[in-house]
Amino acid sequence: MRNRPRRNRISPAVRDLVRETHLEVSHLVYPLFIVDGKGIRNEVVSLPGNYRLSTDELLKEVESCLELGLRSFVLFPALDEHLKDREATHSYHPENFYLKAIRAVKERFPETCLISDVAMDPYSSDGHDGLVKNGKILNDATLPILGKMAVAQAQAGIDIIGPSDMMDGRVAFIRKALDGDGFTEVGIMAYTAKYASAFYGPFRDALASAPKLGDKKTYQMDPANRAEALREAALDVEEGADFLMVKPALCYLDIIHDLKQHFNLPVAAYHVSGECAMLVAAARNGWLNYEQAMAEMLLSIRRAGADVILTYFAKDYARTMKN
Ligand code: PBG
Repeated sequence: MRNRPRRNRISPAVRDLVRETHLEVSHLVYPLFIVDGKGIRNEVVSLPGNYRLSTDELLKEVESCLELGLRSFVLFPALDEHLKDREATHSYHPENFYLKAIRAVKERFPETCLISDVAMDPYSSDGHDGLVKNGKILNDATLPILGKMAVAQAQAGIDIIGPSDMMDGRVAFIRKALDGDGFTEVGIMAYTAKYASAFYGPFRDALASAPKLGDKKTYQMDPANRAEALREAALDVEEGADFLMVKPALCYLDIIHDLKQHFNLPVAAYHVSGECAMLVAAARNGWLNYEQAMAEMLLSIRRAGADVILTYFAKDYARTMKN
């Protein structure tokens, strides 16, 4: 035989030479949930190993991540029900603990990259990403609320705004709002192709943010659609996005590949709560090897074309890289 592909797999050294895909800790973003209060570190039952943290605990968490070389974070607020209303007004309230937490992290650790979440659902008594009227999710009436939320986050010192709401035109609206207030250097990571997925369950548990009525199918994308992701991406590019995102990640590797091929913006993939929880559950039952399966999952997302991966495994992966 002239051709023996196995020759290039013969030893760890040779395999290292021919490895095509590399995943570094610098490609990862770690999602963290924030609550009001002090001394709180409250585990999310459906997402073991992840906690709702008060600001003091958040600072400790960020510090331990920095020691592992992990310095990018996406932050989500978990609000008490009494702070929620139909217009999500707490999202830009000056006493909002989420905004204060952003300020505290940036003050203490300016070397971090902090990404926000812009959408109404954590603050909405309806549990929807947009304004609800007569059972409908209004698009254009939601935009000014998202704009205010984004500007408040920029004032708090956020590095990158993360609109996860899937309203039409929101990237352009937020870009204009930011620029109008002088925040021309604050970036936008657009949740470009965000699908109406069953894999957000643990996240909605963490934030108690599940929709009170109906589902999110009139704004999040149909999992059956692929060409539509290109349409969404073209709009986000034109509206001024700095990153395009695909969410979830593992069931949508083809979409990640498509966006990477067709556009020249960095592509982020959100490896969402349910995708991580599945592996954690299997590992706890002794059915899968956690570290090996985790590395394989993350590598697949990267191989498909993701430049950046948002994942609840970020810290564990950083630990395995250190050892
Ligand atoms: C909502 C939002 C969701 C997630 C991030 N932002 C859930 C949803 O759309 O209902 C999910 C993330 C995850 O599951 O890890 N704006």
